[in-house]
Amino acid sequence: MKRKFKKIALVFFLVFIAIQFYQPKQNISNSFDIGKNFANNYKVPPTVLNSLQKACYDCHSNNTKYLWYDYIQPARMFVEDHIKNGKEQLNFNEFASYSNRKQQSKLEAISKEVKSGDMPLSSYTLLHHDAKLTKQEKEAIIAWINKTLNSKN
Ligand code: HEC
Repeated sequence: MKRKFKKIALVFFLVFIAIQFYQPKQNISNSFDIGKNFANNYKVPPTVLNSLQKACYDCHSNNTKYLWYDYIQPARMFVEDHIKNGKEQLNFNEFASYSNRKQQSKLEAISKEVKSGDMPLSSYTLLHHDAKLTKQEKEAIIAWINKTLNSKN
């Protein structure tokens, strides 16, 4: 019984080591198109921008700030999956390339996600404590979005 357990543990260990070699391309881009970038096209107060950057940009921009444990498999696969899906839905670096209508609806969606607390994902804030938004930070984001949407209508 003991020997069998040892064998199983060894197999798990070897599989764990083997999957470490699978490291997909990082979400880090050096080129930057300010024409499409959110912060270059909206007058975002620095505090609001800071909040969005710390809480959202890892999955919703072309540059993720990876932490050392983000590289450990199988977590890495989940991280990249979140980034891929997150960017498909919302990419702050390409925000201004969306149609006006889409930009408006994305701003509404951001406000909704922040209000409900569904974003940033809780699986993410579990390890990225800094990404949690305080009540004041949330209120500032929502207030700025309301103001921006009202001034556009
Ligand atoms: C850990 C990665 C991650 C972080 C951090 C994150 N998101 Fe997301 N976000 C996703 C993923 C994955 C999806 C797509 C799947 C889903 O809706 O769950 C998504 C979807 C969304 C959508 C839905 C788009 C739509 O039109 O319905 C919005 C809006 C959004 N996120 C806003 C935010 C905001 C605002 C923040 C920061 C406060 C944030 N997200 C932080 C991963 C993330």
